[in-house]
Amino acid sequence: MFSYQLDTNLRLELLTRQHAPELYNAVNENRQHLSPWMPWVATTQSVADVESFIATTRQQMAENNGFQTAIRAGQEIVGVIGMHKIDWPNRSTSLGYWLAEKHQGQGIMTKACSAYITHAFTELDLHRLEIRCATENTRSRAIPQRLGFTQEGTIRSAESIDGRYLDHVVYGLLASEWQARQA
Ligand SMILES: CC(C)(COP(=O)(O)OP(=O)(O)OC[C@H]1O[C@@H](n2cnc3c(N)ncnc32)[C@H](O)[C@@H]1OP(=O)(O)O)[C@@H](O)C(=O)NCCC(=O)NCCS
Repeated sequence: MFSYQLDTNLRLELLTRQHAPELYNAVNENRQHLSPWMPWVATTQSVADVESFIATTRQQMAENNGFQTAIRAGQEIVGVIGMHKIDWPNRSTSLGYWLAEKHQGQGIMTKACSAYITHAFTELDLHRLEIRCATENTRSRAIPQRLGFTQEGTIRSAESIDGRYLDHVVYGLLASEWQARQA
């Protein structure tokens, strides 16, 4: 299995079919926590549903269109982070993520995002990274804010979840801005 160590206790693991039962349990235990922001939670009702999600992520990677990883803290899968797709002509991608409720507040996702940013700007040589968060999702918005993204605007009624439309705040980070912060 391909994995990347974030620190002594934390690592990113490229999703494979073997993750499906454990990942399904993590989603199942966090339904209430995730549902307000993640529309796919409602349609994830079995291990088979997670297997098909993982199959799409493997296809995504085979097409050189980004990848998705489980986040493991110690022995436990505590979340997922990945790229939605890569817009190669414009050298741009966006990140999506979630963390189990009880593992919030430790900087895990900020650290995982930071590793993705480094990979995107160094290994993939991308030009722009984007994170979109629902306006009310303050915990999620704090991540791009913490990592030096610029708030670029709001997309009204960008996403329908459970019969309500959420506005999305768009955060962007350019490679040049990220490099300036490394100096
Ligand atoms: C969005 C989400 C991943 C944020 O989780 P989080 O725990 O707040 O984010 P992090 O793991 O980066 O942790 C940051 C917190 O750890 C603290 N922290 C501790 N050590 C830290 C470190 N080394 N670096 C950064 N933050 C650290 C921060 O102060 C912050 O705590 P605070 O919120 O009490 O101020 C999580 O709330 C979630 O999964 N929500 C549901 C799904 C969702 O909304 N996904 C995003 C859709 S756009």
